[in-house]
Amino acid sequence: MGFKAFIKTQKAKAKLRRAFKSAGLINKYKNGEKEVMVYPTIHDVAFDDKKKSTRYVFTLINGMDPKEVEKKDYVFMQHFGKHIEIDGDYKKFDLTVYEHGLQKELTYKYQDKENEKNNDISTAIKGFKMPIVCGKDRNGNWIVYDAVTEPNALISGEPGSGKSTQLRSILTTLIKYKSPEQLHFYLGDLKMSEFHLFNGVQHVKGVAIFPNELERMLTHVYNEMLKRSKLLNAMGVMHVDSLPSDKKVPYILLAIDEIVMVMDNKDIKKMLVQIGSLGRALGIYCLLSLQRPSHDILDTKVRSLLTVRMGFRTPDISNSKIIGTPGSEKISRETPGRFFLKRDSLEEIQAPYLTDKEAEKLLKPYKSKEWKNAFTGFSEPSNDVVEELTEENIFNGVLNHVNSKR
Ligand SMILES: Nc1ncnc2c1ncn2[C@@H]1O[C@H](COP(=O)(O)OP(=O)(O)OP(=O)(O)O)[C@@H](O)[C@H]1O
Ligand SMILES: [Mg+2]
Repeated sequence: MGFKAFIKTQKAKAKLRRAFKSAGLINKYKNGEKEVMVYPTIHDVAFDDKKKSTRYVFTLINGMDPKEVEKKDYVFMQHFGKHIEIDGDYKKFDLTVYEHGLQKELTYKYQDKENEKNNDISTAIKGFKMPIVCGKDRNGNWIVYDAVTEPNALISGEPGSGKSTQLRSILTTLIKYKSPEQLHFYLGDLKMSEFHLFNGVQHVKGVAIFPNELERMLTHVYNEMLKRSKLLNAMGVMHVDSLPSDKKVPYILLAIDEIVMVMDNKDIKKMLVQIGSLGRALGIYCLLSLQRPSHDILDTKVRSLLTVRMGFRTPDISNSKIIGTPGSEKISRETPGRFFLKRDSLEEIQAPYLTDKEAEKLLKPYKSKEWKNAFTGFSEPSNDVVEELTEENIFNGVLNHVNSKR
């Protein structure tokens, strides 16, 4: 460590000790006439220039109440500013201090020629095969990952936290980025609230709104999966991307908004697990949303497949833990679209906001009059059905059913 870095570290440590003192996280004892103060041990101070953050690792003195750290987070904010994160359990804690906070609302703009020449979505996804746009981090950078390498994601969080909106913008981006020959969608919309927007879009092969339709749709995807594995075998390649050009197959994205309503159906669950485990090499990817995670819906098998987790606001830490995004319980109601993204690490992100009106405008050019929904036999779900079944009566029915089986 150079001298400058040494001084910087010492200064940072001194600042943290001042915070410990104001928070009362110190022990005092008398040594003769002298009062001696004992501080928690600071093990590490790491400056991350890219993330514009400083991370401290410290351990409490034995006998200190770890709850005091959380209770006194306002003291840490008074010293370090409000953009901090504290993580830890009974003794060891991580404190991360960020220079910037997240922007409160982020308007979805695929292309923004005037304002943000090099910082719009179309620029951020350049070079990706199957870009899943998550949102922006604290430093205003777009966070995008490729479904080709991270095939399955879970989007979870309480009602109104931004799950469907996130699905809407992810799908819209993909529709604008890839042709209907390159990418096919299979959509499950069991709450009948979101995916009707996509009816007519040429990439969309089917929208299932009832469990039996979803079952048929999954069977279709499942069969397609078998077909593709045979094709890979016959061609002697490991991945659909390596198929010769005359044998190329489109990527498939299976997106289901609210899986709780079908996870008690064994056949559906089994097919989902199979598609999730075998899809990667076959170009078949899953995006699933779920309001209330529980251990019986997200059993270990399902969880281990859904390696990407987007944890929007949750009511409490136990929900956040099931999702794998501790911190989600601290997200304020005032910031819908805010979430924690768990991939290799955990990161707080603001999702872009795409209203359904705006999405309709963006999707219009991709719609075709000849479009048919393969899994209902008619192209628009009839309106009277939608009105008869309210979210309350179907959704709670399923939840009660699931709960009663515990
Ligand atoms: N990224 C965002 N930025 C700003 N506001 C948002 C964002 N996402 C959602 N919202 C606001 O929150 C509302 C609810 O969002 P959304 O319908 O996506 O929630 P949800 O999690 O799907 O809820 P439910 O579980 O009830 O279906 C939206 O109508 C919008 O007002
Ligand atoms: Mg929703």
